[in-house]
Amino acid sequence: MTVFADPTETGATPIEQVPADQFPAWRDAQSALVQAWLEKNGFKARAGQFVWLPDASGAPQHVAVGGNGRNDLAALGELAWKLPEGLYAAAADFAETALIGFGLGAYRFTRYKNTDRKPARLVIRDAALRQRVESVVSACSLARDLINTGADDLLPSALAAEVLQTGARLGATVDVVTGDALLTKGYRTIHAVGRAADDPPCLIDLRWGNPASPRLTLVGKGVCFDSGGLDLKPASGMRSMKKDMGGAAIALGLAQLIMTQRLPVRLRLLIPAVENAISGNAYRPGDVIRTYAGTTVEIDNTDAEGRLILCDALALAIEETPDLLIDFATLTGAARSAVGAEISAMFATSDKTAEALYASGAKSDDPVWRLPLHAPYEDMLRSSVADVVNSPSSPYGGAITAALFLKKFTGSTEWVHFDTMAYNTRSRPGRPEGGEAMGLRAVFNYLQERYGTAA
Ligand code: BES
Ligand code: ZN
Ligand code: ZN
Repeated sequence: MTVFADPTETGATPIEQVPADQFPAWRDAQSALVQAWLEKNGFKARAGQFVWLPDASGAPQHVAVGGNGRNDLAALGELAWKLPEGLYAAAADFAETALIGFGLGAYRFTRYKNTDRKPARLVIRDAALRQRVESVVSACSLARDLINTGADDLLPSALAAEVLQTGARLGATVDVVTGDALLTKGYRTIHAVGRAADDPPCLIDLRWGNPASPRLTLVGKGVCFDSGGLDLKPASGMRSMKKDMGGAAIALGLAQLIMTQRLPVRLRLLIPAVENAISGNAYRPGDVIRTYAGTTVEIDNTDAEGRLILCDALALAIEETPDLLIDFATLTGAARSAVGAEISAMFATSDKTAEALYASGAKSDDPVWRLPLHAPYEDMLRSSVADVVNSPSSPYGGAITAALFLKKFTGSTEWVHFDTMAYNTRSRPGRPEGGEAMGLRAVFNYLQERYGTAA
């Protein structure tokens, strides 16, 4: 059941919004009973505050929520769990992002938990607004669920099944190349990274939309678990690596949203899916792999596996010269050192697109920050035995060198790369701890500006 109730349901408690700067005037206009109630409850209309208000007989009649008038996720982000279970109706003046925040805040990952607690549900009377808000929340929830699922329940075959299911529901075609068939097609790098795992590597390829529309291709890093390979991660680093398919989850969530909102694009979604595991046939430091593009890569560190699986997908993507190519990846720890866990690092070949994406992120409370594709750092990717090395020996600028590695496979196609955490390390209103679809809303809102709305 969705937290957004059917508007035909009756008996909803109204929720009104009181911006903090309008609080004194609003309070003075209330009855003496209500003013006394506000006083005793300490309600000052601060962000995150709410209060039940009585009718003339003293019975609880409606809810007022505070805020600072900002269009952010936090405004209603805690309300679904703070209010008693039941039905509520949002006043017409709530901002779209605030309503999305209600839905995103109501999310809980319950697959492995026995729980009866249910969030409060919200009626949004405007049907078009309700449909948009629900689609956004459902896309983000899909990404969160996939990220939160343990690797044992989401190996490459299961990730492929998820894409097949989403595609079938929305009228897309999905093609999956699995195991040794990857070698036949030339996706040797995806195969090399994933071949040591029991669940074989695959390349998932979804297509949707009018072939005459501008081509938009999304790519997501689908490392279902990253042990580091033979250059094994320490326990502390490995602990969170079920989320290393976060890029794939975000790309799939975004694809679902593009399809449900029927954006006028020809959509393609490419997910190289692997488990970076170890066994007797694991790829090794010192191995050289001939990528799908023909470029040879010397493996310095098997833990720099994301760029390896992505390079084959990107090289495949540019064969049909898309209008725009976007990838999402939990690619480097260095990106987290640069911008922290709560902002996605963005790299872009077009200044104009980067600026518009930054603005869209700020407007949608889904922050992204650009880092440079600083060409001189390409020197760090030089190998003495192959065209390029997968991991530079220098400890500096790791997010940039990873992005420059990917850039070698994007030709002259306009390209945007997100190096993202895909995870909330702490709970904030609208952002519960756990998997997070970072960048999804920033990119979707930008795509609507670029391509227009429903076809
Ligand atoms: N999946 C990790 C990057 C990562 C780590 C993302 C922690 C988010 C949080 C990636 O595959 C990796 O291990 N990268 C290495 C690259 C290095 C070996 C060049 C890293 O960042 O240390
Ligand atoms: Zn790794
Ligand atoms: Zn990884």
